Amino acid sequence: IQNNNILITGGAGFIGSSLANRLLPNNKVTIIDDLSMGDFSNLSSSSNLIKIKGSVTDKALLEKVFEENDFDYIFHLAAVASVADSVARPYETHQVNFDSTMAILEILRTKKKSIKRFIFSSSAAVYGDEPTLPKQEESIIRPLTPYAVDKFASERMVMVYNDLYKIPASATRFFNVYGPNQNPNSPYSGFISILVDCLKNQKPLTIFGDGEQARDFVYIDDVLQALLLIATSDQSLGQVYNVGTGAKTTLNDLIRFSQSDLGKEVDVKYTEPREGDIKLSISNIQKLKKIGYNPKYNLESGMKKYLDYEF
Ligand code: UD1
Repeated sequence: IQNNNILITGGAGFIGSSLANRLLPNNKVTIIDDLSMGDFSNLSSSSNLIKIKGSVTDKALLEKVFEENDFDYIFHLAAVASVADSVARPYETHQVNFDSTMAILEILRTKKKSIKRFIFSSSAAVYGDEPTLPKQEESIIRPLTPYAVDKFASERMVMVYNDLYKIPASATRFFNVYGPNQNPNSPYSGFISILVDCLKNQKPLTIFGDGEQARDFVYIDDVLQALLLIATSDQSLGQVYNVGTGAKTTLNDLIRFSQSDLGKEVDVKYTEPREGDIKLSISNIQKLKKIGYNPKYNLESGMKKYLDYEF
């Protein structure tokens, strides 16, 4: 993507800032972020960058931004990213994770905005715990939490706007993304960011459940590759894609791996599982591979790159 005008909601957050930094040298990038989890310091300084501190639930702000800009690409990454946080705050989560999507789609429809692509970040959480693995895009959808319901509803609404109103759109179902600049400072942060923070600062780690729950952990660079492919492929129009690696890793695997790799003991405490927590989540990525996706990192090389950056 070059010489385009791009909006990234959640652009100061983990995935958003990584994407912005990749696009900034050759594009104009506008960021909206409420800085609840993100930080503008994640972003490279650039004359191509416009930073707006505000919430995607603020319709007046969205309208103003769209009045002042004609965007080519919109990456809607702003979200309450934590499944457990959504269980604690279902209504606030809904406003951020669903209403904001509709608000943007409505502006695009009613103001007849012509864009190249709207990319919505959905989640592997939509599949829930239905036991067939790995998850394919056509697998049974059984959301278990407000987070998963809103991600699926948003994703479907985006596809309806694509089909009925010709707002060109695609969606990603991210599995568990990790890497530098993922904020570890909340009990609701991503597991790997918390683990790395515990290793660095010798803090105790809490595991919810027996640690045998498994995820498909995907390194941020592979996620950027996927986002850029999906945004620019003709084939991906109106389509949703799993974004993962296809590999299974349990939390206990991760602790063993980090300890052996760094030679540091982690003080682990096991406690009750979280409500709505998924036991096993692994992706089938054949569909994404058909448009050229070729993930470069397995857990070992991804963790190594992340840890080299952190230590
Ligand atoms: C994660 C993402 C979510 C994404 C989904 C896709 C975050 C915060 N969540 O949800 O945005 O849509 O993947 O699959 O990035 N855990 C502990 N101790 C902790 C923290 C977590 O044991 O201190 C456990 C959780 O109970 C869970 C696992 O680690 O079993 C992963 O949790 P988390 O990193 O929050 O990710 P998901 O819920 O899978």
